[in-house]
This record gives sequence, structure tokens and C-alpha cells, in this order.
Amino acid sequence: MKIKHFLTLLDLSAAELEHIINRAIILKRLQKKGQSHQPLAAKTLAMIFDKSSTRTRVSFETGMFQLGGNAIFLSPRDTQLGRGEPIEDSARVLSRMVDGIMIRTFAHAQLESFAAHSAVPVINGLTDEYHPCQLLADIQTFVEHRGAIRDRVVAWIGDGNNMCHSYINAAIQFDFTLRIACPENFDPDPIILARGRDHVQLVRDPAIAAKNADLIVTDVWASMGQEEEQHARVAAFSDFQVNAKLMAQAKSDALFMHCLPAHRGEEVTSEVLEGAQSVVWDEAENRLHAQKALLEFLL
Ligand code: CP
Ligand code: NVA
Repeated sequence: MKIKHFLTLLDLSAAELEHIINRAIILKRLQKKGQSHQPLAAKTLAMIFDKSSTRTRVSFETGMFQLGGNAIFLSPRDTQLGRGEPIEDSARVLSRMVDGIMIRTFAHAQLESFAAHSAVPVINGLTDEYHPCQLLADIQTFVEHRGAIRDRVVAWIGDGNNMCHSYINAAIQFDFTLRIACPENFDPDPIILARGRDHVQLVRDPAIAAKNADLIVTDVWASMGQEEEQHARVAAFSDFQVNAKLMAQAKSDALFMHCLPAHRGEEVTSEVLEGAQSVVWDEAENRLHAQKALLEFLL
């Protein structure tokens, strides 16, 4: 059987993704009822983090534990990865010992070469290009609050970054319309954008993107690895804040999401983040449930 990796949302079929979202909702219910579900007994997930994380680490580690398995946190600081052992060698060694590997790193190509040499499923825990696990949680959250996302309108406001790219893939796979409003020079990758052309519109005015939308989403203006650009980006993105005025353009029952961590007063006001339309805490919690469904499916 060919191993399935989850490097982007395009690695699974639309039907498989829908199955994972439905399972996530069921697994959440089981967990809330205190019912144990341990299909991954004696299985181990290795988790390689080249960048910081709160949600991704805790949700994968807790998720594996709840499913009856185990997770190992690996940082370049204290593994041979940090001392230059080739990715290809690390992949072959680790995959002889564990049942799945989650990686958070910089270049997506690094993750791809790791996966190409791994004998077990590899999961993208965020790269500079994509953050597909977050999208599973976001879609689950939308479905729980508003029902199917098919044919809905989602507005992405801000940077054409890894989250934006994963929203483009989600629009293709879950069949919704995505309107992206980015400042000039901060557009998503043209190749990824072109792939989504049947579902995605790129505009410059956040108000046009948000008009009658069902969901407004944003993310930090400077992602991990772009810390030095923070100052310049604050200036470039100043008209791209999600605030009450922008939310008023959307449908009256529109939801607000943010993968977190958020910078209040930059990409989103405190009023919106803490407001009645914001579902960011459910969204964060759903990382756990959605990834449990993913692990159950892949492992
Ligand atoms: N949203 C997200 O991936 O959060 P962490 O960086 O805390 O994992
Ligand atoms: N775009 C952000 C997402 C963090 C979860 C980053 O890459 O830093």
C-alpha cells in the first residue's frame, strides 16, 4: 500500500478531507463525553519543530496520548538534525522506529525531501508555504457553527502567506469562493493562485473582499522567519486591519477566524478578536480534534 502523506490539502481527495472533518466532529463529541477511543495504542508520532509552536505541539502530543499512542518532541537544538545530519538520512532512520512524523520547518522543499525518504506518513505542521492542519481545524469550526462551507464566501485579509496558500487549496477542495485582499507586493504565490483560479479572486480593497462574506480570516503581518521585516510590514499592511468597520461589510452572521497567535491592534482589533463573531478559541481547540481525525486516518 502506498503511504499517504499530508504535506498539503491536495494530498488527500475531497472525499477523504470531508471524512476527516466529520470524524473530527465525532471524536470531539466522544472526548467531551469522556469516552475513550484508542486506535493508536503502541503507535508513536515523532514531532520535529524547527520553529516555535504552542498549539501544534500541544494538540499533536495530546491527540496522540488520547488515541492511545505516544509523541516525541524533537528540536534541532538537541538532535543530530541541528548538527547537519542530512534530512534524507534522518527520514530513513526515524521512519524505521516511529509510525508517523510531523514536521514544522522553513522551506516546503525540505519537508518534501523528508517525505520522499520516509517509510511512514509525514504531516506538515507548517512550512513557509503551507499550514494544512490549521485548515482542517478552520473548516471543522465553520461547519460546527454554520454548516457546510461549500458555496460560501470566505475573505482572506492581509498577507499572501502560508495560511493564505492553504486557504486557496481549501477553496479548491471544499468548493467555496475565496476573496483575497493583500497589499501590493504581498500577494500569494502566483503558481498556487493560478491553481485556484476557479475559486479565488484577488482584490486590493479589503472592503470589497469582505462584502457579504460568510467568514473573515486574517493572520499576522510578519510570519515566523520574517521578524526583521516586521517594521516595514506594519506600514505596508496598515489598511488591512480586520476591525469592526470591515466586519460590518460582511454578512451580519459572518464568523471571524485567526490561526493565532494574534497581534491585537495590528492585523485585528481586540474588539473583533474578543467579539461575538470571533470563534478563534473553538478554532484553536479544534486543532486537537481535527488532527486526531487526521492521525486516525493516516496511521
Ligand atoms: N496556529 C498555530 O499553528 O499555532 P502554533 O504556532 O502555536 O502551533
Ligand atoms: N503565518 C504564521 C502562522 C503561525 C501559526 C507563521 O508562519 O508564522
